[in-house]
Amino acid sequence: MYLTKEEERILKGEEGYAKQKAMEIVVALGDIYGADRLIRISSAQIAGVSYTSLGDEGIEWLESLGNCHVAVLATLNPASIDLESWMDMGVSQEYASKQFRIIQAYTRLGVKPICSCTPYLAGIIPRFGEHIAWSESSAVCFANSVLGARTNREGGPSALASAIVGKTPNYGFHLDENRKATVLINVDVKLETLSDYSALGYWVGKTITSGVPYFRGLKPNRSEELKALGAGLGAAGSIALYHVEEATPEYKDALIDQVERLNFSSRDLTETYDEYFKPVNGSVELVAIGCPHMSLSELEDAVKILKNRHVKKGCKIWFFTSIGVKKLAEKCGLLRIIKNAGGEVYTDCCMALAPLKDLGFKNVAVDSAKAAFYTSLLTKVNVFYGNLKNCIESVTEG
Ligand code: F3S
Repeated sequence: MYLTKEEERILKGEEGYAKQKAMEIVVALGDIYGADRLIRISSAQIAGVSYTSLGDEGIEWLESLGNCHVAVLATLNPASIDLESWMDMGVSQEYASKQFRIIQAYTRLGVKPICSCTPYLAGIIPRFGEHIAWSESSAVCFANSVLGARTNREGGPSALASAIVGKTPNYGFHLDENRKATVLINVDVKLETLSDYSALGYWVGKTITSGVPYFRGLKPNRSEELKALGAGLGAAGSIALYHVEEATPEYKDALIDQVERLNFSSRDLTETYDEYFKPVNGSVELVAIGCPHMSLSELEDAVKILKNRHVKKGCKIWFFTSIGVKKLAEKCGLLRIIKNAGGEVYTDCCMALAPLKDLGFKNVAVDSAKAAFYTSLLTKVNVFYGNLKNCIESVTEG
C-alpha cells in the first residue's frame, strides 16, 4: 500500500508510540484487504466501551496510550451502565468505577464521551459520500445505507486507530464497486411495526450472512424503520450496507443484472418470530426498549402506549437512548409521563451489555431482534420478543 512521507514517519515512530501503533493497525488492515492507500475520514465511532466487554486488560491497554490525541471527531459506542443514573440501575460502585476509568481513558485521547449506537441522532451526521470509520454494526448500516456515507464495519481497535491517524485504508465499502447489490429481496408482506422491520433484517442476515441486499416492495415511512432493519441485518450477519428501492440514496445505481433473488413472505415473517425468538408472556420482569437507541419519535410511540398505564409491582420498563434525545424528551414532557408511569429512561448504555443477571433479572422482553440475539447471548437471561405494544403491556396495567 502506498504511504505518504508523513505516514511513513508516523509508522517509524517519529510522532510517538501511540500514533505508531495506530498507524501499524491501519496499515496492516490495508495490506490484508489490498487497499491502495489511506484516505481521510471525517469521524470515527468506537466500539469496545463497556467494562463487560473490555475487562481489566482493556482498561490497562487504553490507559497505556498516554497523551496521544485523536485527529478527527470521535465518539463512543454505549457503555454498560448509565453514566449519570447508574445507581438507579442498581449497579455496584466497584463496577461503575471500572466503567468510568474506561470513559476517562477515551476522554484523555480526545474522544467525545457521547456513548451511543445512534450518533446520527446525536447530531453526528456524515454527508453523502463522506468517508468515516464507524464500528457499531447498526450505525454502520445506517451511515452507509440511509446517509450514503462510506465506512467498513470497523472493530473497536481499528476505529480508534483510524481516529488517531485520521485515516482509514481505502478498501471495501469505501469503493464504488463494492456498493452494488448482491441479492434482491422481494418483500411480499406489509410490515406494520419496527419489530417487523427488525425481524426482516434478522431473517435476511441469517439467510445470506454477507453481501449487499436490495429490498423491493418495502415502503418505509420513517427512518426508524430503516434503523430497525439495519440493526437486524447487522446482528444476524456481517451486512454493512443495503439498498431500498425508492427510499435509500444509492438504490438507482445499485442493482445490476444477474443477482440472486429471494422472497420474504408473511410466512417467513411469522416463522422468524416463532423460530428464533420466544414470544412475550406474563413472566417478564423487565422490558428493555432502545436497541438501537431510541429516537424522540420512538419515545413518543412508547408514551402513547404508556399513557394511563402503570408498571406492575416487581416489574420495570427501561428505555435506552442518547443523552441528546433524553434532553429533548425532557423538554417536551415525555420524560415526565414515562416516570409517572413507573418507567426509566437511561442513556449512554446498552441493554445487551448491562449486568442484567447480577441485577436480579431472569426474564426480559425486547422489541428488537438485535437486542433479543445479543441480550440472551451476553447476559444469559431469558429473552422474549414482541412489538412495542406487546412488550409494554406485558409489564403494565391500565
Ligand atoms: Fe445499541 Fe447495544 Fe443494540 S449497542 S444497537 S443497544 S446491542
